[in-house]
Amino acid sequence: MRCVRKVTEDLYWVGANDKRLALFENIHPIPRGTSYNAYVLLDEKTVLFDTADWSVCRQFLENVEYVLDSRSLDYVVINHMEPDHMASLEEVLLRYPDAQVICTERATMMMSQFGFDIEQQIVVGEGDSMSFGKHNVVFAMAPMVHWPEAMVTFDTTNGVLFSADAFGSFGSLDGKLFADEVNFERDWLDDARRYYTNIVGKYGPQVQNLLKKAAGLDIKIICPLHGPVWRENLGWFIDKYDKWSRYEPEEKGVMIAYASMYGNTENAAYILAGMLCERGVTNVTLHDVSVSHVSYLIADAFKYSHMALLSATYNLKVFPLMQAFIDDMKALNLQKRFAGVVGSGSWAPQAGPSMVEQLDAMKEFTVLNEQPTVLSSLNKSSYEQLEDLADSIVETLR
Ligand code: FEO
Repeated sequence: MRCVRKVTEDLYWVGANDKRLALFENIHPIPRGTSYNAYVLLDEKTVLFDTADWSVCRQFLENVEYVLDSRSLDYVVINHMEPDHMASLEEVLLRYPDAQVICTERATMMMSQFGFDIEQQIVVGEGDSMSFGKHNVVFAMAPMVHWPEAMVTFDTTNGVLFSADAFGSFGSLDGKLFADEVNFERDWLDDARRYYTNIVGKYGPQVQNLLKKAAGLDIKIICPLHGPVWRENLGWFIDKYDKWSRYEPEEKGVMIAYASMYGNTENAAYILAGMLCERGVTNVTLHDVSVSHVSYLIADAFKYSHMALLSATYNLKVFPLMQAFIDDMKALNLQKRFAGVVGSGSWAPQAGPSMVEQLDAMKEFTVLNEQPTVLSSLNKSSYEQLEDLADSIVETLR
């Protein structure tokens, strides 16, 4: 049975949800599942904007068929070639063999790489436009948001932006299509941040380029490929994207992440958190890197202005899961943060110096000078060093 939602008078959401998928891109946990959004426009011509992941193909096709209501499909716009959006394209073309595929030049190359032999292609570039009848659209290239072939499509007739991966979020839609139908800030923002920072976070400058293009458009509705559709309060969410893509923290606060084997480094982390609260800084969050998946660590690293990393030494190096977090921050080009470092170990505490060296090398990272070392367990001296670090964090927060 069909499962569709109306976006505007002649535009329909025809996507599908997957709550069974445990790992997005087979790496990021998605306990609330994900949606794969696709849209059908009913104009003089009929247009499908993107397809869906193979896992939800049946539901997606039923939705398309229902909305078309026996009409043929004239065009498929492929804004993004990642298989979670185009895997069902072949199946669409088997059912609607006369449909023409509109995409970028780079997307045509990727189609053949993925083994799709599609003849009926219309290649578009920056600023190209098409008319489907009443609706006119213009195409804007969005390379590396989040793959090189990506583009967005803007309907100049009604102000709908088909934004591909931009403005998406983890989480299934559960019938509520629009961001104004949920409490987005309370229930969705964390997943939207985790989606952006882990999936697109590396490409801040490219997202900035897209935001500059978007600023010149009269956007009324944003239709992303994942998560809710935006028709109200667009500026609030665009502002989040602006901050994330400039690597500016959203909040003044401290993310503490610790790697501990027997609880001594963990103890130091909790004590540091308490010291900050005693000094009036309560916007503090705490993660055990062995418990929190790195995607959550990354999201909070983007969110907060400060981080404090406490790590045990392991094989004379930084504890592996803390190292994975640092590597991920480097890979995603995180910048402009204050970092406190606490190293621990029982005979050769190498974790501290190694973390300092690595964080120092990251763009516009300020590693605080107070760098406590915990030898096996906290003692009076290392406790006082922690207090110095807490003072320094509070001072730089001001
Ligand atoms: Fe959901 Fe980059 O695709």
